[in-house]
Amino acid sequence: MKCQHCKKQAILKSPRLCEDHFVEYFERKIGKFLDKYKIKNKKLLVAISGGKDSVVVSYVLSKLKEKFNLQIEYFFIRLGIPVFTEKSEEIATKVTESINYPLTIYDLKKEEGFTIMDIKYKPCSYCGMIRRYILNKYAFENDFDYVVLGHNLDDEVFFIFNNMFNKNITQLQRTGPLTQTIKDKKLVGRIKPLYFLTEQEILLYAKLKNLPYVGCACPNSLESTQKKFKKDIEFSRDQKLNIVYSILEMKKYLPEEKVELKFCEKCGFPTTSDTCKFCRTKEKILSTL
Ligand code: FES
Ligand code: ZN
Ligand code: ZN
Repeated sequence: MKCQHCKKQAILKSPRLCEDHFVEYFERKIGKFLDKYKIKNKKLLVAISGGKDSVVVSYVLSKLKEKFNLQIEYFFIRLGIPVFTEKSEEIATKVTESINYPLTIYDLKKEEGFTIMDIKYKPCSYCGMIRRYILNKYAFENDFDYVVLGHNLDDEVFFIFNNMFNKNITQLQRTGPLTQTIKDKKLVGRIKPLYFLTEQEILLYAKLKNLPYVGCACPNSLESTQKKFKKDIEFSRDQKLNIVYSILEMKKYLPEEKVELKFCEKCGFPTTSDTCKFCRTKEKILSTL
């Protein structure tokens, strides 16, 4: 099987590219993303967890930062999961050192008084909310234009199906490669530069570039629905892209999520109730310690 651009051996079926052309295609795709969504002259907070997605996005953005005049800060949240957090931090440090950037470490225990392990029941189901809250707060207080996340095409396909399995139609409004910053609501926009790239492509890029990453998932998430979904349902790259393109197109016709945002009476950040979910969770955890 030959590369579609040259005579070299292809390393991937779809797109059919050799090593060099694949790397070029991959980086160009992220460049196109930045172009399309006008991510130029921006201040970005990159959430690096040590997993392949965040490592790859951190690395590629560091290569594109001059072209797009980006100001970047890398941010790691020390969640306090034994072994896993240490290993992840080691990787995040190694990657940011190799691209010559300082790494900001947010220690959950020091800053908030608890670790993720203090949540006794299904910590992973709170983890996303906690990380989102911290990233938004830090980004808002430090005047960032966007938070950068490593979500890929496979994650998004899972998100879409999971919401359809549960008839959460309005949640589908949340799909998309970016959300806008709404300053007066204290909400910092989020961008997902790997949105149109598959897990397989990301893994391949990490391998070709010799990037270190934490190979295993969070130990608390061993039986996650997402894992089962990815194992049970297989789509081709084109099918995944078409699912996402279709939903993005359909979003125009979907009902809007009707949420009225107010500010949390404890922390002052946006919420739909009087106290935000983060503050309520934190209070509950601290009362058990
Ligand atoms: Fe964070 Fe599992 S505890 S993903
Ligand atoms: Zn080639
Ligand atoms: Zn709050």
